[in-house]
Amino acid sequence: MFRLPFFKKSKQNKQQIDTIHNVPEHIAIIMDGNGRWAKQRGLPRLAGHKQGMDNIKDIVRTANKHGVKILTLYAFSTENWKRPKSEVDYILKLPKEFIHIYLPELIEENVQIKTIGAFDLLPEHTQQAVNEAKKRTEANNGLILNIALNYGSRDEILQAIKQITRDVQSNSLDIEKLDEQIVSNYLYTKDFIDPDLVIRTSGEQRLSNFLLWQIAYAEFWFTDVYWPDFDETVFEQALHDYQSRKRRFGGLTNNKLKQE
Ligand code: FPP
Repeated sequence: MFRLPFFKKSKQNKQQIDTIHNVPEHIAIIMDGNGRWAKQRGLPRLAGHKQGMDNIKDIVRTANKHGVKILTLYAFSTENWKRPKSEVDYILKLPKEFIHIYLPELIEENVQIKTIGAFDLLPEHTQQAVNEAKKRTEANNGLILNIALNYGSRDEILQAIKQITRDVQSNSLDIEKLDEQIVSNYLYTKDFIDPDLVIRTSGEQRLSNFLLWQIAYAEFWFTDVYWPDFDETVFEQALHDYQSRKRRFGGLTNNKLKQE
């Protein structure tokens, strides 16, 4: 699809994004800094998570506008269960609230909702709300909003190893044929291309068990901005910086790794 270059005049320092060439197809974001955002304002941590939830809609809109195909958001990790129960309970109610408020608009924008992670271990009410949203958006073919819920990369790889071993033992998989693509097919992300760009907000520069297999060749972009303040302008700065990067995938030219 041909898209006209995008110009925005309303804000200063806006980056002009080339919406035709070199837009990352898959962006994965570690949404960090909700607690500090709230603390800075003398608010309870939960207020930061609520603001973080509201911010998702704006970021989805911006991603959609620039032709991003998949937006994977790290909402709840397998390690986040270690937080106080009240905070865990609150975060796991946010998907339902998000869907309640924003689903009509997401449907309007042709967004598909998907998840990665150990879904069956989430509270029943979270599963029900998310399943409903998945069902109501399954016919959409626009941006995929992929929410990582109870996701941990090591656990994902461990489960894949177990299943591969079972399949080898039952002779449904020939170990000699096992290759990187087949391993990828055992991961939650089997239907998605690997992320091109990983963004982490709030000044932290670590991966926190996020998509470790899938981001082998991704570009990384870090910002000090807390997630609730990560707005269109900052997002476009990341897109702009990505567009100036030279990706070589270990070779000498920009030959993207073949992904079926
Ligand atoms: C990290 O910030 C954030 C989280 C663990 C939760 C992120 C969840 C949301 C943004 C809302 C999810 C909603 C939907 C609909 C998926 P932090 O609390 O670790 O921040 P801190 O490091 O400043 O304490």
